[in-house]
Amino acid sequence: MQQHNVLILDFGSQYTQLIARRVRELNIYCEIHPYNNPPKDLTNYKAVILSGSPSSVRSEDPPHPDLSEIRGKKPLLAVCYGAQYLAHFSGGLVGQSNTREYGRANLSYVKENEVFFENITTGSQVWMSHSDTIKELPTNGLRLASTNDVENAAYKIEGEQTFAIQFHPEVYHSTDGKKLLENFLVKIAGVAQTWTPDSFVESTVEAIREKVGTEKVVLGLSGGVDSTVAAVLLHKAIGKNLHCIFVNNGLLRKNEFTDVLKQYEGMGLNVKGVDASDRFLDALKGLTDPEAKRKAIGKAFIEVFDDESHKIEDAKWLAQGTIYPDVIESVSVNGGPSATIKSHHNVGGLPDFMKLKIVEPLRMIFKDEVRRVGASMGIDKELLGRHPFPGPGLGIRILGDITKEKVRILQEVDAIFINGLKKSGLYDSVWQAGAMLLPVNSVGVMGDERTYEKVVALRAVESTDGMTADWVNLPYEFLQKTSNDIINKVKGVNRVVYDISSKPPATIEWE
Ligand code: XMP
Repeated sequence: MQQHNVLILDFGSQYTQLIARRVRELNIYCEIHPYNNPPKDLTNYKAVILSGSPSSVRSEDPPHPDLSEIRGKKPLLAVCYGAQYLAHFSGGLVGQSNTREYGRANLSYVKENEVFFENITTGSQVWMSHSDTIKELPTNGLRLASTNDVENAAYKIEGEQTFAIQFHPEVYHSTDGKKLLENFLVKIAGVAQTWTPDSFVESTVEAIREKVGTEKVVLGLSGGVDSTVAAVLLHKAIGKNLHCIFVNNGLLRKNEFTDVLKQYEGMGLNVKGVDASDRFLDALKGLTDPEAKRKAIGKAFIEVFDDESHKIEDAKWLAQGTIYPDVIESVSVNGGPSATIKSHHNVGGLPDFMKLKIVEPLRMIFKDEVRRVGASMGIDKELLGRHPFPGPGLGIRILGDITKEKVRILQEVDAIFINGLKKSGLYDSVWQAGAMLLPVNSVGVMGDERTYEKVVALRAVESTDGMTADWVNLPYEFLQKTSNDIINKVKGVNRVVYDISSKPPATIEWE
């Protein structure tokens, strides 16, 4: 447990994770907990933030937790719904707004000489998203700011370190939002800005040693950033007692199995490479449905991993590269995503029958922090900058049924595309890229011959977390050269298309 910890109580806002990110950017540690299941012991929390919510304090069954252990006892910042609820809880009045306010607004009044608004002036742009408004401030409430449409855009409760804002300081479009969070957390609440990658490594290594002791840990490496950083952290903590398993499911990128294995060995990790390609391809035979394919790949992985981990005598722990967004999803107010679009790898990980205790050293940090932690431990930059790659690999990029020949074709196409991005200096500006093999043939002409071959689609997206994404406007010259290279060099492909769909409504992968 960190000594300087900020508690974010989540009322279900889509922006709650963003609050946590902004706080972490200030080098301050924070945790998100659902409003209806807060931590029992608040001793180590130096400040509390109440998030926004899609609810209204006036709706039928709104989130109305008891704040009496927090208000007046801890420095408190209430945001949007949080501000409305704080007013409601403390004797104020919340009602429907005459004008619903969404998007940009500017502060038309800012009270002078308030530490909370230090270096923030009238005119500062803020981001609003609400239809209720605070009509009357709570007992001892003092207005700190207004916009043209919202009189009580910010207030404090006198005699306490309690502050509330109707706007969202966490979104990029609130231009002084981060400054305001800093004013509250550092200048008012006195929280120390000591959360750095180095301090994380130090405290995590210590925590792992304490938790695991001299017992053996098994970890499944995927070649991705999360499992690699988790492995290096564990290795630092327990050395040779960490046993890594890297499974080739036959659906990896071209040469990935051997290249990545070499890289891991170079890093001093104790890794066993297991080539189970045939087992996976057998399990996939005849399957065309995306979810059936995912399930078959997941099941084969568990079987292979279970077999291998049994060979490690006395293994007691299973390490996983779970990161914070997965954890938040699974404990969120609404109990995780409302609809399963795709069955991504689940947070619970491997099934109970494996009888291993779980250790997840990255479960409290975000993706960009994972990279920073990796860099602070000296992990190769190229490895840390690798694009995300789905667990089922090319299995969900080959639409329809999977054969060895289709895997070969897609590996070649993918390698030309990805290497091309690297050579052109475009790789790092793309969040994720890959190729899809479509289940259609199209007519072409090569030399004087008619061809009837496969179509591939290239996809490159920009995103921050994979939840939303937009296609990248790759230069025409690059697309032209890549298309030529693919059609000339990869036997079996006579047409290349580029995917120009955003997510939503499309998804990043095609299956
Ligand atoms: P979608 O296609 O849902 O992808 O927009 C969002 C991100 O998740 C990855 N992805 C997966 N990762 N198992 C995984 O481990 C899966 O089954 C899976 N499906 C999609 C995808 O590559 C992207 O980064």
